[in-house]
Amino acid sequence: MAYARIEIAPSILASNFSRLGEEIRAVEQGGADVIHVDVMDGHFVPNISIGIPVVQSLSKATRLPLDVHLMIDRPEKYIEEFVRAGASRVLIHEEATVHLDRALGMIRELGAQAGAAINPATPVTMLTEVLNKVDTVLVMSVNPGFGGQKFIPGALEKIRQLNQWRAQYNGAFRIEVDGGVDAGNAAELAQAGANTFVAGTSIFHTPDPAAATRQMRKLATEAIS
Ligand code: DX5
Ligand code: ZN
Repeated sequence: MAYARIEIAPSILASNFSRLGEEIRAVEQGGADVIHVDVMDGHFVPNISIGIPVVQSLSKATRLPLDVHLMIDRPEKYIEEFVRAGASRVLIHEEATVHLDRALGMIRELGAQAGAAINPATPVTMLTEVLNKVDTVLVMSVNPGFGGQKFIPGALEKIRQLNQWRAQYNGAFRIEVDGGVDAGNAAELAQAGANTFVAGTSIFHTPDPAAATRQMRKLATEAIS
């Protein structure tokens, strides 16, 4: 299957921003596949994080693809700027735009990979019409806005459902999971069909982020091999 590979995506939201470069190097050494960047606007989610200039700096600081998760209303207004700033993947929320199909198309036209994200209360059926135009489906396993929250188990069933559906699409999209992902649930998530494991707290709030990255890959890979 095209996207069967396991990817570890450390979320810099949980990193120490005053030494962001070092934090990135640590997870690179741990074999991270992508860097997950959480952009929050204070409207779509009750928090404000980072934006275009940080994505620009990050794109110079790492060769890893930047997985830019836009937790912002009307993401279509900013897609182009984020791609120009260096986003390799742009993830937008189904709940944040009335023109999901068009916005996903914009991302691909700009040469980036397109991802559609859903909140815990959004049924996975909201994405059936766009599964043929995404590179990633992002299943939120916490209510977006903050790191360090508890995993909501309903995400597992959504991942299993997506995993079944994607067989009909020749496996042409990744399943990404974000929120409360840690060493305790990585194996079960991999078995359900998740490919891309976003992890903030369980990687950066440890004494050794490189080792935590390696360990998560080991757990996820072993669970499906
Ligand atoms: C939450 C963000 C997540 C967050 C995950 O709104 O989308 O990417 O950083 O953090 P942890 O892994 O701590 O739950
Ligand atoms: Zn995220």
